[in-house]
Amino acid sequence: MKALTAIALAATVAFAGSAFASADLAKKNGCVACHDAAAKKVGPTYKDIAAKHKGDKDAEKVLAESIVKGSKDKYGKIPMPPQAKASADAAALAKWIMTH
Ligand code: HEC
Repeated sequence: MKALTAIALAATVAFAGSAFASADLAKKNGCVACHDAAAKKVGPTYKDIAAKHKGDKDAEKVLAESIVKGSKDKYGKIPMPPQAKASADAAALAKWIMTH
């Protein structure tokens, strides 16, 4: 029982750690200028993005590609410029966005 609790705790800490790391990645790459988890800014919220792609098994791949190459006409009239500087972090960011 004690061991189980320890494993659960370790998993929680690890998960919280990675979520925090990705929030930092969003900050580092300037995504926060246009995106927020739940407040609409220039871009759609992470919640809206996750909801739109929910159930799509290629969601992380599609989002990572949109991040690097940009996106348009999916959420409204404003396009997202390509974020080539985030290419190394795109997969982690896409995965994190899908957890919203
Ligand atoms: C200049 C503002 C701006 C910046 C900076 C920006 N975005 Fe966006 N983003 C947008 C807009 C606007 C859209 C909606 C585009 C559309 O309608 O297709 C969008 C859409 C998206 C989508 C949805 C794509 C899809 O295929 O559904 C993802 C994921 C995303 N952004 C992630 C990011 C990440 C991660 C960063 C930082 C590396 C970032 N964005 C930086 C404005 C921005």
